[in-house]
Amino acid sequence: MLSTIDSKGCPVHFNNAGYSQLNNHLKENNYSKIFLIVDQNTHQYCLPDFLSRIQTESEIETIEIDAGEEYKSIDTCMGVWEALSECGADRKSLVLNLGGGVVTDLGGFVASTFMRGISFINVPTSLLSMVDASVGGKTGVDLGVLKNQVGVINLPSMVLIDTSFLATLPASQMRSGLTEMLKHGLIYSEPHWNALKNMSKLDISDLNSLIHESITVKNEVVTSDPTEKGLRKILNYGHTLGHAIESYCLQNEQKQTLLHGEAIAIGIILETYLSSKLEGFPTEKLDEVKNTMLDYFESVSFDSNDILEVISLLKFDKKNSHGDINFVLLKDIGEAKVDCKAPNSLIMEAFNYYMS
Ligand SMILES: NC(=O)c1ccc[n+]([C@@H]2O[C@H](COP(=O)([O-])OP(=O)(O)OC[C@H]3O[C@@H](n4cnc5c(N)ncnc54)[C@H](O)[C@@H]3O)[C@@H](O)[C@H]2O)c1
Ligand SMILES: [Zn+2]
Repeated sequence: MLSTIDSKGCPVHFNNAGYSQLNNHLKENNYSKIFLIVDQNTHQYCLPDFLSRIQTESEIETIEIDAGEEYKSIDTCMGVWEALSECGADRKSLVLNLGGGVVTDLGGFVASTFMRGISFINVPTSLLSMVDASVGGKTGVDLGVLKNQVGVINLPSMVLIDTSFLATLPASQMRSGLTEMLKHGLIYSEPHWNALKNMSKLDISDLNSLIHESITVKNEVVTSDPTEKGLRKILNYGHTLGHAIESYCLQNEQKQTLLHGEAIAIGIILETYLSSKLEGFPTEKLDEVKNTMLDYFESVSFDSNDILEVISLLKFDKKNSHGDINFVLLKDIGEAKVDCKAPNSLIMEAFNYYMS
């Protein structure tokens, strides 16, 4: 059985034992109404199973939002706030978010602001939302193309991870979440990296304990640094170049659109190359990182113009300070260093290494 993880007072429960905890919680709190937020996919694939496992006397109302990042907006919040209001939600109501990171981020924000804040519980159903969005208390929505520009930090009353939901998650979304797990190993735990790198295929039964381990890593990092001053920055490993690549591919019609995790996987290879040149990251492990990533993700090609465009997008990175671009680099697996600088010539070299 996977033990409960405590995240600053918010328990993260797992699988069967998690449903008992959830049912106890619902009984003890006797909510006036439960509002279940889903998107079309989690409505279809997760809701029937979820409803069959919860026991409550409280009335349950389902609110469906459109699936996809483009609906993580204030417009969608308006619809949900209005639905809550029309259906008689009050301060003793509960919002229960059943979905990927879009549903849990948006539903958490809606609950945190409705009537100045009502209780909410997250049940993440995608691998990314389980391993990345389940701890830390970040909620919010996008402002046009600017991601997560509006939001609040507020912890749910509880998180329930039911890994059986992953059975219906598309393989590409599964890989996208896996990237964040691999990142957790690289920045913080060599044993976690080794376990993940040796997993030849994504078998859900192996994944159970790996998901638990990955959430434990993220939780240790965020709880030891709530204000995001130092340690928490290491979670941005692979994300400086990864985000720039993600934005570039999104803006450029000739380029295939990459899922977040697909872009970050490339960013991880590139930033591990920078680590080997600037921080003495061992070269044999550099090849191991590249080969592991390329086992899961097909290589994408970039010409010199693409690379220059990606480099020019680095100036928008939110970790920048005083006009400098700040990278997280690794001295070794599990040993991250923040606020590192890298010359553009080395970034070009990193792309050549990635494509070689
Ligand atoms: N709060 C945080 O700390 C945090 C951390 C990381 C990411 N995020 C946010 O999370 C979002 C990305 O999360 P995501 O990848 O889960 O996106 P998502 O919610 O869009 O889910 C991806 C796709 O999978 C579908 N899906 C989800 N669960 C499913 C299931 N069990 N079966 C079938 N289909 C399913 C969804 O409907 C959607 O189409 C981004 O908005 C990002 O900003 C938040
Ligand atoms: Zn990420």
